[in-house]
Amino acid sequence: MTTANNVSGLPPGDLVVRNIGQLVTNDPSHGGELGVLWNAAIVILGGTVDWVGLDRELPADVGDLPELDAAGRCVVPGFVDAHTHVVFAGDRVDEFSQRLRGATYEEIHESGGGILSTVAATRRADVDELVAAARRRLDVMAGQGTTTAEVKSGYGLDVATEVKMLDVVAMLDATSPVDLIPTFLGAHTVPPEYADDRAGYVRLVIDEMLPACAPLARFCDVFCDAGAFSVDEARAVLGAAATHGLRPRLHADQLAATGAAGLAAEVGAVSADHLDHATAADLEALAAAGTIGVLLPGVSLSLQLPFPDPSRLASAGVAVALATDANPGSSYVLTMPFVIALAVLEMGMTPSDALIAATRSGARALGLDDRGFLAPGARGDLVVLDADTHVALSYRPDTPLVAEVVKGGRPLA
Ligand code: NIG
Ligand code: FE
Repeated sequence: MTTANNVSGLPPGDLVVRNIGQLVTNDPSHGGELGVLWNAAIVILGGTVDWVGLDRELPADVGDLPELDAAGRCVVPGFVDAHTHVVFAGDRVDEFSQRLRGATYEEIHESGGGILSTVAATRRADVDELVAAARRRLDVMAGQGTTTAEVKSGYGLDVATEVKMLDVVAMLDATSPVDLIPTFLGAHTVPPEYADDRAGYVRLVIDEMLPACAPLARFCDVFCDAGAFSVDEARAVLGAAATHGLRPRLHADQLAATGAAGLAAEVGAVSADHLDHATAADLEALAAAGTIGVLLPGVSLSLQLPFPDPSRLASAGVAVALATDANPGSSYVLTMPFVIALAVLEMGMTPSDALIAATRSGARALGLDDRGFLAPGARGDLVVLDADTHVALSYRPDTPLVAEVVKGGRPLA
């Protein structure tokens, strides 16, 4: 068993990246929020960025290190996907077809499908099946530049399966190139065996699941929304989680304004996610609490709902992160370039703001201050784009533009 803080499945490497055309550092000391340098180079030692600057000023003593020639292309920090449910069994393509014929996500959920059909499949699946299925998804994500991803439990909803899911996350963290940050989401929905006893299920989460799962997780999340858990139930779960050392984050106000975003502010959540229906007052409270707002355009696209409005968050002073919400129901979307393109083309974000949201703010939404930017001391996680500038990510939304991914100083094959 590895720890929740494991670096990655790869040993850290040394690397010099030369001949970078546009280098996005996200280090404002180079000017602007993106800290762009042109004709640049980066030195990574032992998996950590050691030097960033102009190629012509590259220190002479790096001559023996392995070299990657960016050939004038654009380099950006590795993407940080701060909200995924990427460990699951089966799929929900039948429900997708039902939705295309007019059924809503909520109707399917209320008739016992939705999250619960993935719970049934995930309970049946053994560890090897779950690892293999998630590994295929992680390989797609890594291939399109995701170098860190959060992964939630929440398709178990019993002690043994919640532990199984978090064990799978730890196994994948140890063997996949993507750093995985585990989140316990026992309060995702009420399982069928507790359909007539919600209070009993919340007690099970608090009294039995949390003690068993907390050693395997870093965060605790609750689906706090209409038809899911109430603000009072979520407050109880997050309060108990804090006593086990888990920091709070919340699925908040996706379906209706229930006060979930206000609760996220009250408990000092690291992130509040979705926020489609959050009130202006709750957004201001989030800004005051320093909580990051995570927006998930893949959900809007997949459920054919209006896209979230980042300008509401920005005008309240809430920093915005973007994530995939990769899951088999509401957003079977795996890659961050696609999310960036949606944010720019459908949500009115600028390409620069979308890139920051997919890198530095994603890292902040996971409480990580060592990545999402490229400066000495940061993780050596970067992406070479087959493009002159990062704007191509939304200008050319259907072309896979990720040419090379470097994780901890090691180019991925
Ligand atoms: O973030 N909202 C709840 N959870 C997921 C959906 C999970 C599912 O449908 O399986 C979400 O949208
Ligand atoms: Fe989610």
